[in-house]
Amino acid sequence: MPLAWLFWLIVSQGTGPNSAEFINRYLGAWALKILWISLSITPVRLITRINVLTKVRRLVGLFSFFYVTLHLASYIALDQFFDWSAIWNDITKRTFITFGVIGFLILSALAMTSTRAMIKKIGSRNWNRLHKGVYIAAGLVAIHFTMMRKGFQIEPLIYAGILASLLAVRAFYWIKEHGRGT
Ligand code: HEM
Repeated sequence: MPLAWLFWLIVSQGTGPNSAEFINRYLGAWALKILWISLSITPVRLITRINVLTKVRRLVGLFSFFYVTLHLASYIALDQFFDWSAIWNDITKRTFITFGVIGFLILSALAMTSTRAMIKKIGSRNWNRLHKGVYIAAGLVAIHFTMMRKGFQIEPLIYAGILASLLAVRAFYWIKEHGRGT
């Protein structure tokens, strides 16, 4: 739906004076939102005990990856016009881009190991362990967003706060579970 809405904005010339920037930011913002939704699934499941939620977790995560890939594609094509040396310069010199790229590489590894065949090969226990890496990726994305917005802005702080709260819920249940075992 966000992608359909973006198409509509493009055809109806609703992307404002700087379309490239609008499209890039729009796709990045949706990648972030969907990633946060995927991260909230386990904490919500732990609190509500609605276990079916786990079934959609992988799908939601893959949707986020889809938007990140489009965000990257729009950066390469619309922002940099495939100027690979300028892109390399950006990755190595602009710290917020460096964080974004590392986050993207981690998310790529998680997406690639999310096919049914790969999950079977790795084993669901190891898969779950490996996919805790999503929190590292999310931390990097939160930094990417905060640094990109420059100066004091409330929105990146809200997302960082939500991420910290989701981690706190998981930590609480982890301690509860392991406390019971001793
Ligand atoms: C592949 C590596 C990445 C590159 C090269 C990249 C590039 C960029 C650039 C150039 C901007 C700023 C555009 C501007 O100044 O107007 C930006 C903003 C942003 N990016 Fe990325 N990014 C990457 C990864 C990610 C990832 C993994 C996420 C989230 C999952 C993400 C989410 C965002 C968000 C939320 C914004 C700000 C949007 C807003 O202002 O509302 N980016 N990115």
